[in-house]
Amino acid sequence: MFKLASSLRSHEAVQRLTAITSTKPSVSFVAIGVTAWFIMLQLWPCQMRGQHGTTPHIKHIVMGRCYSYMTLVNPSLSYDCEEIWRRFEEAVVHPATCNVSVQDYHPMFDLMPQIWPCNKFLFWSKTRSLMHSYAAVLQHFWTLEDTLPGYMFNDLVWCGLDKESGNDGFDHSSCPEWSACKNHPVYSLWRKASQNFAEMACGNITVLLNGSVVNAFNRKSMFGSVELDSLSPKRVDHVNIKVVTNLEGPYIESCNKGSIANLIQILQFRGFRWTCTDTDQTLMSLQCIQHPKCSSTQTCANSLTSN
Ligand code: APR
Repeated sequence: MFKLASSLRSHEAVQRLTAITSTKPSVSFVAIGVTAWFIMLQLWPCQMRGQHGTTPHIKHIVMGRCYSYMTLVNPSLSYDCEEIWRRFEEAVVHPATCNVSVQDYHPMFDLMPQIWPCNKFLFWSKTRSLMHSYAAVLQHFWTLEDTLPGYMFNDLVWCGLDKESGNDGFDHSSCPEWSACKNHPVYSLWRKASQNFAEMACGNITVLLNGSVVNAFNRKSMFGSVELDSLSPKRVDHVNIKVVTNLEGPYIESCNKGSIANLIQILQFRGFRWTCTDTDQTLMSLQCIQHPKCSSTQTCANSLTSN
């Protein structure tokens, strides 16, 4: 989308410059030069803009995070970071970009076993930034990003090059969007990480959903398509759903309105016990704190004082 928009903007600029050249020959030489520069920018896509290719220095970032995780975050655990990176490369480098399956990552995930304490699992959908604040405030929650793979690959982008290409095997100029193909290298890794995370879930688990969007519970999202199906009613005591809306709305979905009723139906059918709230005071207070105008409004005052 960004690429298309910027390409259209540049095309317009080129047209305007070309129009100027038709009347003043002395200006036309300069204008042709500038036009050529614009065209070069278009033909030399992300190399210069560096927008959506593999994250630069990915190897150093991933390895650094791996050592940081086992040294500082979770010192009781020990992992072979070098071998994890080697298996990651083996899965990703050189298959055509859209040809990395969940199975390709199995050897890498085999090196990252992790046992999690029950009652701490936090799942979410369409609430990423609120989930981060929530997990930071209530420190007993654990999210996918607290696992080793989640921690190592958080916010990174990667894709491989075709075999003929040289260099380190990663495409540093452009990678497709997650939605572009079924076997997307980034999507496949998150699928596997999310599946493992949900399979481990036990005790009381929490799901944070966004009541200000249509389809707060979406069967095609990572939560709806991978994590929900990987939860076990034998391991999970309660699924505690928390629906949260923007303070000033829109108020589209709630526990008994919209797609969340579908989620509850699926949970019941599979034998899970569940609770659902759309008035969680901690979440409302958190939103207030983050809202620039909020401290003066009645809603915020109420939600802050009732805690
Ligand atoms: N790094 C970068 N982007 C991410 C990450 C991450 N760690 N996690 C999610 N994203 C982006 C992806 O673009 C993804 O498509 O956020 C989007 C989340 O989409 P939503 O529809 O909001 O949520 P959902 O698809 O349900 O995924 C969230 O899966 O990531 C796991 O455990 C997590 O329960 C959570 C669920």
